[in-house]
Amino acid sequence: AASDPGLVERAEAARAKLGDRAFVLGHHYQRDEVIQFADVTGDSFKLARDAAARPEAEYIVFCGVHFMAESADILTSAKQQVILPDLAAGCSMADMATDQQVDEAWDILTDAGVADVTVPVSYMNSSAAIKAFTGRHGGTICTSSNAKRALDWAFTQGEKVLFLPDQHLGRNTAVLEMGLGLDDCVLFDPHKPGGGLTPQQLRDATMILWRGHCSVHGRFSLDSVLDVRDRIPGVNVLVHPECRHEVVTAADLVGSTEFIIKTLDAAPAGSSWAIGTELNLVRRLALAHPDKTVVFLDRAVCFCSTMNRIDLPHLVWTLESLARGEVVNQITVDEQTAHFARVALDQMLALPG
Ligand code: 13P
Ligand code: SF4
Repeated sequence: AASDPGLVERAEAARAKLGDRAFVLGHHYQRDEVIQFADVTGDSFKLARDAAARPEAEYIVFCGVHFMAESADILTSAKQQVILPDLAAGCSMADMATDQQVDEAWDILTDAGVADVTVPVSYMNSSAAIKAFTGRHGGTICTSSNAKRALDWAFTQGEKVLFLPDQHLGRNTAVLEMGLGLDDCVLFDPHKPGGGLTPQQLRDATMILWRGHCSVHGRFSLDSVLDVRDRIPGVNVLVHPECRHEVVTAADLVGSTEFIIKTLDAAPAGSSWAIGTELNLVRRLALAHPDKTVVFLDRAVCFCSTMNRIDLPHLVWTLESLARGEVVNQITVDEQTAHFARVALDQMLALPG
């Protein structure tokens, strides 16, 4: 399908027919065959802002995953329709925190006497229900580009943070950017009674990390870093903060997908880079920088399978349906959930800096 000229022509024709009525957003992890049709590309923070900045577009076609389309629906006007070209494009990390589990966790924090001083900070990679929980309890959303600013703000509002659902982004930001110790962090396991923690552990902790992770970034290991340093002398290791703590600690630089792209753009010709993030993006970076050596941090790690569900046939079907006036795969968040999720998202958009 990737090189099917018939599909490319059909996508172009449907896109032209729709004109300004459709706005196509593409996350950096999308396939090349899809990203070529994106009006804008970006990390999840940039795309959330871009979606909100297009009030004239009737259809926001979100080439990304479900939680991103939900956020776009929350941030755009009621008249606009947000479309996810394949409804099966979810995110395993977002699925690791359900609203029921998070409500139960809050009860456990309440019983331990710490809920009043705890501020929830939820990663963008979470369902609308988790974002609504965050808004209801006075917290904020963050992305990998603004996690430190979100934590700085949260600690002006309370003494502790409940960080959902990515333990790695939470730990890496707290320890490497905020100067907290590893022993200031505890891991809350929603599958264990009491989260697997004693009330005293909850009282002593500064960061309560949810036991969630990204199934792609979680596969990079310390060995990946050591091996690439052996293979390519002088290589710069650049990884996403969803990677495990020992990977991020052993790397030279850490940052969001947008940061990774800008760092490569600014890198001198002849330099070597091993990148620990999703493979579609790393392949594009290698092609965009023929004057540099750009390799994937670990050849055994593969694509994000749910991001990859959005392919050219799904995009063509979506655009052609919309061009005929048939709205398919619309993502809607109910008004009550949307209200409190918007509170938490607006808090993020208002973070200083
Ligand atoms: P960013 O785009 O915010 O860097 O997030 C990476 C990711 O895993 C998105 O699913
Ligand atoms: Fe979710 Fe990880 Fe895929 Fe991003 S890369 S959508 S966090 S599974």
